[in-house]
Amino acid sequence: MSWAPEWKRVESNPRDPGGSWDNRGGHGGAREGRGQGRGGRHSGGQGGGSWDGRGRSRDPGRSQGQGQVSDSGRGRDQGRDSDLGGGGGEDSDSSRGRGSGGDSDSGRGRGQGQDSDPGVGGGPDQDSDPVRGGSPDRDSDLGQCQGQHQGKDYGWSSLSDHLGPRATGSRELPLCFSLNNNMVGVVIGRGGSKIKDIQHLTNTKIQIIKGDSEAEVKIFGSHDMKAKAKEAIETLLKKQQSYNSKYADNAASQLPSESSLSTNYTVRRAQPLLDWDQIRAESMKWEKRKWADLPPIKKDFYIESKETSLMSEAEVDNWRKENFNIICDDLKIAEKRIIPNPTCKFKDAFQQYPELLRNITMAGFQKPTPIQSQAWPIILQGIDLIGVAQTGTGKTLAYLMPGFIHLSSQPIPKEQRNGPGMLVLTPTRELALQVNSECSKYSYEGLKSICIYGGGNRKEQIQAITEGVDIIIATPGRLNDLQMNNFVNLRSITYLVLDEADKMLDLGFEHQIMKILLDVRPDRQTIMTSATWPDTVRRLAHSYLKEPMIVYVGTLDLAAVHTVKQNVIVTTEEEKRALIQEFLKNMSPQDKVIVFVSRKLIADDLSSDLSIQGIPVQLLHGDRDQSDREQALEDFRTGRVKILIATDLASRGLDVDDITHVYNYDFPRNIEEYVHRVGRTGRAGKTGISITLFTKSDSKTANELIKILKRASQIIPEDLATMAEEYQLHEEKKDTERRSRKYQGKSKKFN
Ligand SMILES: Nc1ncnc2c1ncn2[C@@H]1O[C@H](COP(=O)(O)OP(=O)(O)OP(=O)(O)O)[C@@H](O)[C@H]1O
Ligand SMILES: [Mg+2]
Repeated sequence: MSWAPEWKRVESNPRDPGGSWDNRGGHGGAREGRGQGRGGRHSGGQGGGSWDGRGRSRDPGRSQGQGQVSDSGRGRDQGRDSDLGGGGGEDSDSSRGRGSGGDSDSGRGRGQGQDSDPGVGGGPDQDSDPVRGGSPDRDSDLGQCQGQHQGKDYGWSSLSDHLGPRATGSRELPLCFSLNNNMVGVVIGRGGSKIKDIQHLTNTKIQIIKGDSEAEVKIFGSHDMKAKAKEAIETLLKKQQSYNSKYADNAASQLPSESSLSTNYTVRRAQPLLDWDQIRAESMKWEKRKWADLPPIKKDFYIESKETSLMSEAEVDNWRKENFNIICDDLKIAEKRIIPNPTCKFKDAFQQYPELLRNITMAGFQKPTPIQSQAWPIILQGIDLIGVAQTGTGKTLAYLMPGFIHLSSQPIPKEQRNGPGMLVLTPTRELALQVNSECSKYSYEGLKSICIYGGGNRKEQIQAITEGVDIIIATPGRLNDLQMNNFVNLRSITYLVLDEADKMLDLGFEHQIMKILLDVRPDRQTIMTSATWPDTVRRLAHSYLKEPMIVYVGTLDLAAVHTVKQNVIVTTEEEKRALIQEFLKNMSPQDKVIVFVSRKLIADDLSSDLSIQGIPVQLLHGDRDQSDREQALEDFRTGRVKILIATDLASRGLDVDDITHVYNYDFPRNIEEYVHRVGRTGRAGKTGISITLFTKSDSKTANELIKILKRASQIIPEDLATMAEEYQLHEEKKDTERRSRKYQGKSKKFN
């Protein structure tokens, strides 16, 4: 199979004359004279097996570790690229952007501890856990315990406990007994104080694992001490019981006497026990009431074509393999559903929708891209979907087309729906605008769309919403602002898309998304798409999607698109300017390059430097006025300017025709961003080239970069390999030193 996918567009688009595509792979390839035979298809490994049947990370420890790592990464990132805050953001954004380091970090921290935002999905179960409710300090402990128990139980052990149960293998069996879930909080005490005391005094380790109604208590230690610890727990429980009955008496008499309160100090200090079961029931009732008067929703519109239904299992397997290895999985925990056969032709998916078919034909597309062919039959059946496919492989239409059908086929006509039916959330304004223009380009049955984003005219946006829209494409900040001020009704939304969800998390939008989704009906259909699928976003998927299926093309491991030839130049900070000037000087007239830098300051500096030399460039970063940002992109799109200098504001989703080169003047802040940046070229089956300057200060990422290069069968510069090795050695040395310092410290204590 040749390197170029068969689905690339071959005719010029009558609506978009600039869009004629080169069958042979475009000029980028010619310039570098690269081999044609390179990796058309991914080889195996497929998926890295990161999901188990329950949709959880297979390796709980890993998923948790990743969360922590990326958190700290986040802190650094935000500091480094303040653009993104501004860029991601909305009016409110500029302030949010600047503060987003703090904001988003704390958001993330909380998020991790409490996946269970009420109403967001995980919900009342976890919220109602007295263990969790007790003290924020404990969140991190809880996180660790959940990791150990694969997130199933709300197990508890104190921070020092983790070795306890494991270390007891050689000791006696634990003393086990159960207690009512309601009593777990009593045993643990505020901030874990009570259980820590018991462990300390009895020299035992105690583990509590919550079940449906009862919790299992395991005490590890010597025979006598285990009994002592159990006794201490029983005393606590008795005290609580006696308090409960007193409290009930007091409540009955309404007015507790002064003396009854003061006679027993412990009793006076104790808080009444909350009835979590009742609170949960109340919360469910409230949820039910909140969504009681919703109009009916229809989600399944799929009629399988004869051709599709006649495909044999072997044909389906073959077809998936040949199409860059499409992998599908049903993440529903209980009974698995049948994964529909792929729709190999447009008419297999949309035969009942001639207007849609006409629009696609006019765009000059030959056949669905791999992600589209497998996503469409799933989405059209009304199933939530996670779609992961490489950059530039048509994920936008993968969710837009079924979305159009969903909207136009609802039982309540759109005029009577009293609000929009589809919501697409994107991390940046530019991406929101682009998706909006795709909506208009393939406009279907007069569906009206609007882009809601910070920097856009708020009054006009409010006006447009008031007049009535069917589709909202928004960045979370501005939408949240309009929602809070009751300018937009989100209850009518039945089709929700989170495009580039990991980036939204990265920019600290999680809270806004949570708030937005509190107002979106829970039985909606939800789609999440990205080219990368880091662990952080898997957590989000858990909360926001219901029994989804996942479709990924090739691998879930981080992989750059194979249509880009990736070059890495190991250099020094001082040499960078000369290198880029040399590159720009040698550009041919057909070339179009996006130059990524890490900071606005560098972007400004580089662009003025080049302008002084008479090289026309455009500039895109978060400190520019929105109109300037839009103009910059427009100049670049139309080809009026062939060089765009941008921060990571432009790394996600942007689909600019004919970008031949991506030039990473600064290495991005994380490897995911590298994959997205590189994917601004080599889109829709064309070829492209990336050039990445890599200095010693980036050496931390050398290893990850090498993995990406290897996966795409790219050349690994010797300098880069050496740098990765040196970094590894350096880290190992540091680690050994750290350990020996720790050891020395300990042995001094004992001397
Ligand atoms: N079936 C198709 N055949 C050919 N081209 C297509 C097809 N579907 C979409 N395209 C085109 O492919 C290009 C890339 O699509 P899109 O922007 O949706 O990619 P993406 O997968 O979302 O990429 P990214 O990960 O960078 O966001 C667009 O110009 C789009 O019009
Ligand atoms: Mg996209």
